[in-house]
Amino acid sequence: MSTWPDTRILDLLGIELPIIQAPMAGATGTAMVIAASRAGALGSMPAAALSIEQLREALGTLRAAGTRPLNVNFFCHQPPPVDAERERQWKNLLEPYYRELGADFDAPTPVSNRAPFDSVACEVVEEFRPEVVSFHFGLPEKRLLERVKATGAKVLSSATTVQEAIWLEQHGCDAIIAMGYEAGGHRGMFLSEDLNSQIGTMALVPQIVDAVSLPVIAAGGIGDARGIVAAFALGASAVQIGTAYLFTPEASVTASHHSALRSAQASETALTNLFTGRPARGIINRIMRELGPISPAAPAFPLSGGALMPLKAKHEADFSNLWSGQALRLCKDQTSYELTRTLGAQALEKLQRT
Ligand SMILES: Cc1cc2nc3c(=O)[nH]c(=O)nc-3n(C[C@H](O)[C@H](O)[C@H](O)COP(=O)(O)O)c2cc1C
Repeated sequence: MSTWPDTRILDLLGIELPIIQAPMAGATGTAMVIAASRAGALGSMPAAALSIEQLREALGTLRAAGTRPLNVNFFCHQPPPVDAERERQWKNLLEPYYRELGADFDAPTPVSNRAPFDSVACEVVEEFRPEVVSFHFGLPEKRLLERVKATGAKVLSSATTVQEAIWLEQHGCDAIIAMGYEAGGHRGMFLSEDLNSQIGTMALVPQIVDAVSLPVIAAGGIGDARGIVAAFALGASAVQIGTAYLFTPEASVTASHHSALRSAQASETALTNLFTGRPARGIINRIMRELGPISPAAPAFPLSGGALMPLKAKHEADFSNLWSGQALRLCKDQTSYELTRTLGAQALEKLQRT
């Protein structure tokens, strides 16, 4: 055997390696995307933490660098209605921390935002025509999705259950990212809010493979070549890897996130809704230990982070999100280019031996 056992994603997306460098809002910048893409993976630029101007600038940089194919990733949540009472209760819960740290409790609460995919973002897609557009939290409304597809982009989205995978297939996806429970960052869940519905990668991937006819990309807990081989054995056609890229010099992580990634044990992550209002996996820190990690008081996505901002400014490690998946102890310090090439070469070698 001289090639990958399943080339459906390679053919669909036009990439050399069946590896998608995961889009990680806040942590992935253009340098990571360029490096992963040059190494043969699908480079993915996350848009959720960017303004439209910043997104346009990033895509200009990527196209000027010759990044092709390119994946641009969007969140497609509905912005929540204003609920001043809930926000007041949440801030009151945080008041002891404001007092302890000397943060100004009476100052207006900063607004935390994550940009949802909308008509203006869609215009940027139409302008730059990325070869791939991936979504988190389902898919955008039909009219917008049709505009994306009219550009010729292949569309991907994350499924955290078999039902979500079937829904994504029925609503126009070209491939499904099967996002297991181990994964770092926000759960892509969109049909249910019940955390008990969430399934580990080992059980999720083959059940999605059996339920849909689209190619499946395994995500969550894949930290080295063994995980890639396992994903292929489960029927996946590619993998999406996030946490391992957080260990590269191209990742834009804070100093406290950088050191937490290198000192935490695999058992020290949890799903938490404290930082944004939606469940996401991160390394357990003080606020997660003391308030949750899941709190019913946290305002709806993406608002809960606003009241934490003044605390984070005073003590970053204790009050900021330290996103990470469970495979963190498999990850090594190396460049995004080296990581991608090593994962690709080692996985192919192992697959050829089996
Ligand atoms: C720091 C961080 C930020 C993330 N941000 C996004 C994002 O903006 N969009 C998205 O679709 N997925 C996001 N994810 C999920 C990843 O795309 C990917 O599915 C996940 O990292 C795979 O699991 P792993 O971390 O175990 O490799 C994020 C993950 C991390 C760790």
